Amino acid sequence: ADFLANTDLLKNKKVIITAGGTRENIDPVRFIGNRSSGKMGIAIANAAAHAGADVTLIVGQVSVELPQSPQIKIVHVTTTEDLFNALQKRFAAADILIMAAAVADYRPVEFIDHKIKKSANNYNFSLSLTETTDVLKEIASKKRADQLVVGFAAETDDLLQNANNKLTSKNADMIVANNVGGTQGAFGSDQNQVTVLQKNQDPIKWPRQSKMQIANQLIELISLKLKQGD
Ligand code: CTP
Ligand code: CA
Repeated sequence: ADFLANTDLLKNKKVIITAGGTRENIDPVRFIGNRSSGKMGIAIANAAAHAGADVTLIVGQVSVELPQSPQIKIVHVTTTEDLFNALQKRFAAADILIMAAAVADYRPVEFIDHKIKKSANNYNFSLSLTETTDVLKEIASKKRADQLVVGFAAETDDLLQNANNKLTSKNADMIVANNVGGTQGAFGSDQNQVTVLQKNQDPIKWPRQSKMQIANQLIELISLKLKQGD
């Protein structure tokens, strides 16, 4: 089914979901961005709202319409640092954080406050980049025992091993691992194939299905995990 049968699964739960891509500014007219559509995170926000949760959707750049629901509060961010600040303000009050955003890994070392001009003798141009904050890792390091944090992992190789490393290194309770290689990629598509990893549990491989179906299954799994209290 496309919708959950039980609409009370996350009743009275505060859920923060991040979606879309962050952008790092180079100069007033240019940025470094990525191809995230925001579809997965938005589908999760809708599924959580349908399950009765009080949802805050923190969105970067998306290529689809944002949900309009009294249960979904929308917060806009641009850069990775904006996203980090938005979460630092709100995480303590949340029961669940789901990091579906495609966060930039690097940003320009400095922002140039005027449009960078091409010059006659520069055949090559290079930009110095520095690592952004690992938002998930920083936020999840402050996680209380009663909070649940779900991350995503986009991989083209060694999916399970890389995703498992992220589960541990980022202190997440769950990682939704997604193979972004090949022709049936996830970016922009309405469908995806994911494997869910949890500590001390066998990976759960779901079939290729719509992002809405993945979102509903994920919300169901999360609500089960909350009830078990582990
Ligand atoms: N993430 C984050 N902050 C970053 C980079 C990633 O919060 N600066 C989050 C993403 O939202 C996702 C998870 O970390 O939930 C994994 O993102 P991914 O890009 O797969 O992994 P990285 O840790 O960035 O490593 P790499 O890109 O090298 O695989
Ligand atoms: Ca990354």
